[in-house]
Amino acid sequence: MTLQIGIVGTGWFGMMHAEKLAKLDGVNVAAFVATNQQKADAAAQRFEGARGYDSIHHMLDDRKLDAVYVCVPPFAHGEIESALLERSIPFLVEKPIGVDEQLPTAILKGIEEKQLITSVGYHFRYMEGTDRARELLRERTALMALGYWMGSMPGVSWWRKMEGSGGQFVEQTTHIVDLLRYTVGEVTEVYAAYGDRYMSIVEEGITVPDVGTVTLKLAGGAVATISNTCAIPAGDRAGLHIYTNKGVLELGHGGLIDMEAGRKTEYVNRTNPYELENDAFLHAVRTGDTSRIRSSYADAVLTHRVTIAANLSARSGQPVKL
Ligand SMILES: NC(=O)c1ccc[n+]([C@@H]2O[C@H](COP(=O)([O-])OP(=O)(O)OC[C@H]3O[C@@H](n4cnc5c(N)ncnc54)[C@H](O)[C@@H]3O)[C@@H](O)[C@H]2O)c1
Repeated sequence: MTLQIGIVGTGWFGMMHAEKLAKLDGVNVAAFVATNQQKADAAAQRFEGARGYDSIHHMLDDRKLDAVYVCVPPFAHGEIESALLERSIPFLVEKPIGVDEQLPTAILKGIEEKQLITSVGYHFRYMEGTDRARELLRERTALMALGYWMGSMPGVSWWRKMEGSGGQFVEQTTHIVDLLRYTVGEVTEVYAAYGDRYMSIVEEGITVPDVGTVTLKLAGGAVATISNTCAIPAGDRAGLHIYTNKGVLELGHGGLIDMEAGRKTEYVNRTNPYELENDAFLHAVRTGDTSRIRSSYADAVLTHRVTIAANLSARSGQPVKL
């Protein structure tokens, strides 16, 4: 059977997903929702037989879809997920799943009531380096971890406003928080210090902090810090160093470097994590078997809560227990 897929959000990542999906057998990219009809039509005309809509409701009224990809900025969640829940349509949603804790918690309640198939775009979970790190950690004790997302400020306007993106820790560095949870374990307490060092001085309208460091306590006793900046001129590193009793594991976009007692072994990611993420989700939609999905909405809520707690801690100056 050919799966009919709708895409909500026709920016960078909506189109990235659409292009990958269109290459798959048994998948038809059937419809696009954008903030206006013109944008939706411009996206749709790139895919044979696809149509554009100016709202999720118009799309769902007009097309019978098997699944929807939600690729909108963090502030724009809510109405889209409610409409999909109402019609019990499985969805893959890009991270982060919101800018506060309340909305994702309410959406999760609806998902659990309907037992709806969901997947969230924490793609580091689908990397071979991550798989290898998890294998190695079965025989090693993770002592502590140092994570980082160091880069420049994205150009899109919503990213620069706290109410639009939730700030860098919620929007970007959430990948590293999720990777920490996936490899080392659950976070029980956070303490955050954020600052405005440069970007809000040189550009108008920026309300997100441009530097931050978050200390995290994990269940079982490991500790971590995760730092980020969006004020350097070009991207530097994004990843996680895990310090273990047998040496250091360095996870990044490219794969894993295992530095065990002076011996360095590299595991390069050979597969595309977004493709594996699609395979897992589409398999679940076809068969009902969700076992290949590595980040469900319920799991993503746990990562999201850590990042929202960090924002709260930075505001209050106090540690926040989870
Ligand atoms: N997993 C990853 O590696 C990864 C990478 C990039 C982006 N993302 C995530 O994808 C999401 C989108 O990012 P992007 O880079 O595509 O942003 P973008 O600004 O390029 O695109 C977002 C689009 O959504 C549209 N939009 C806003 N509200 C909408 C609504 N209610 N209905 C339909 N469309 C709406 C905007 O007009 C815009 O065209 C973000 O949450 C981002 O973090 C994830």
